[in-house]
Amino acid sequence: MAYISPALNVMVAAARKAGRPLIRDFGELENLQISMKGPADFVTTADKRTERILIEELTKARPGYGFLGEEGGVVEGKDKTHRFIIDPIDGTLNFMHGIPQFAISIGLEREGQLVSGVIYNPVTDDLFMAEKGHGAFLNDKRLRVAARKELGPSVIATGLPFMGKEGHARALAEMGTVMNATAGIRRMGAASLDLAYVAAGRFDGFWEHGLQPWDMAAGILLVKEAGGVITDMHGGEQMLAKGNVICANEHLHPQLLKLLKGVKL
Ligand code: IPD
Ligand code: CA
Repeated sequence: MAYISPALNVMVAAARKAGRPLIRDFGELENLQISMKGPADFVTTADKRTERILIEELTKARPGYGFLGEEGGVVEGKDKTHRFIIDPIDGTLNFMHGIPQFAISIGLEREGQLVSGVIYNPVTDDLFMAEKGHGAFLNDKRLRVAARKELGPSVIATGLPFMGKEGHARALAEMGTVMNATAGIRRMGAASLDLAYVAAGRFDGFWEHGLQPWDMAAGILLVKEAGGVITDMHGGEQMLAKGNVICANEHLHPQLLKLLKGVKL
């Protein structure tokens, strides 16, 4: 059985509540009004509504906690020791295209440390969760990172920059290197789920540059609690601040990091 702290329980309930209308929207995509936030960042009305529901539900249960959200940015709370980091729809492009690979992601920081995380795909009803010191779970199943010790048979996920984003040349060079050393690369389009899949042992590893804290917060805890190693691309702990991440099990992480550090542009 998964250990669910009171705070994690609140986060799961909020994710499920915000997920219900998203399932309806996903079935009626043509009715969604799509607005443009920037040349490379489509935001749907569903994104905004989902974040509103999440903030309402979380605030009802935990008044005073602060927020860092994709849509609303920083919302200071009276309680300076707690902050929710939320991505209402991670994988917005997939969502808009009717691809069921997207998720609501909620992380909770206490005194600057990630202590709880939920990643919920409402279409598949996959609910990934983790509590610091109590393991990572998919629904009721305990998660453990994959055991492979060599890159050769490994499947490694990544994320790629798109129109208007920097880092295209680096991404191509890195992929060329990893393609040559592994069984294959996957680009699924929702970083939170990529991290959750590493925690679940579906992917052997994952790396990406140019991420935001809300893409990663819950997933970082999931990978750690599933026994994985997760760092920034310099091998440090500054994933949220630097916006890049690399993770795998303890055997593969150093190999993948070395491989990627050796990529010359
Ligand atoms: C995106 C997804 C994608 C990653 C992008 C993110 P969004 O988040 O996580 O996998 O490659 O960097 O921006 O915009 O769909 O919430
Ligand atoms: Ca995101």
